[in-house]
Amino acid sequence: MNSFEFNKVVAAILVALLVAMLGGFLAEELIKPEDLAKNAYVVEGVGAAVAAETSAAPAGPAPIAPLMAAASAEAGQKTGRVCGTCHSFGKGEAAKIGPNLYGIIGSKHAHMAGFDYSEAMKAMAGDWTFEELNEFIFNPRAHVPGTKMTFAGIKNDQDRANVIAWLRTLADSPVALPK
Ligand code: HEC
Repeated sequence: MNSFEFNKVVAAILVALLVAMLGGFLAEELIKPEDLAKNAYVVEGVGAAVAAETSAAPAGPAPIAPLMAAASAEAGQKTGRVCGTCHSFGKGEAAKIGPNLYGIIGSKHAHMAGFDYSEAMKAMAGDWTFEELNEFIFNPRAHVPGTKMTFAGIKNDQDRANVIAWLRTLADSPVALPK
């Protein structure tokens, strides 16, 4: 191939590219695609199934007092391993991602001195009661919107009560059970 022929090939490629680009541009201008606000095809049943699933999930935790009567601190210690990713439990132990939880029941919110709590947690009034722990552990971010505790929550009533029963044992003198 001499250089003249080579130039012709290059020119042909460039023209082809230009035409392709212009074509795309023109098509876009002429047709102006718009995103659909709704799916053009509604898949029967999918929406209904999703709705059924959400309505079947409990909106909130069951009352804690009756649950505590049958709760097992031993089982709760096992379930509570998931909390141990972020929390320490021994008296005087240092914080991890979350604060130490020794003696948490009956302590005020944001109880650990020096821990960098969220504004949301610091703003909570009062002490941690059984009822409140029940709500918080069920769905942390619903109970304390803006909390730093990125944990989905324990939805199973007995599992949650077991964990609370175990937290109760982490104290110099465990708080009386709720009636
Ligand atoms: C992914 C890490 C993570 C996991 C898992 C986790 N937590 Fe937390 N937790 C945190 C953080 C961070 C905070 C501080 C929240 C804030 O400041 O808003 C916190 C705060 C708390 C508090 C409030 C403490 C106080 O001083 O007021 C309690 C109670 C608590 N967690 C219990 C639990 C229990 C029980 C579990 C397990 C069922 C658990 N957490 C699992 C990270 C976690």
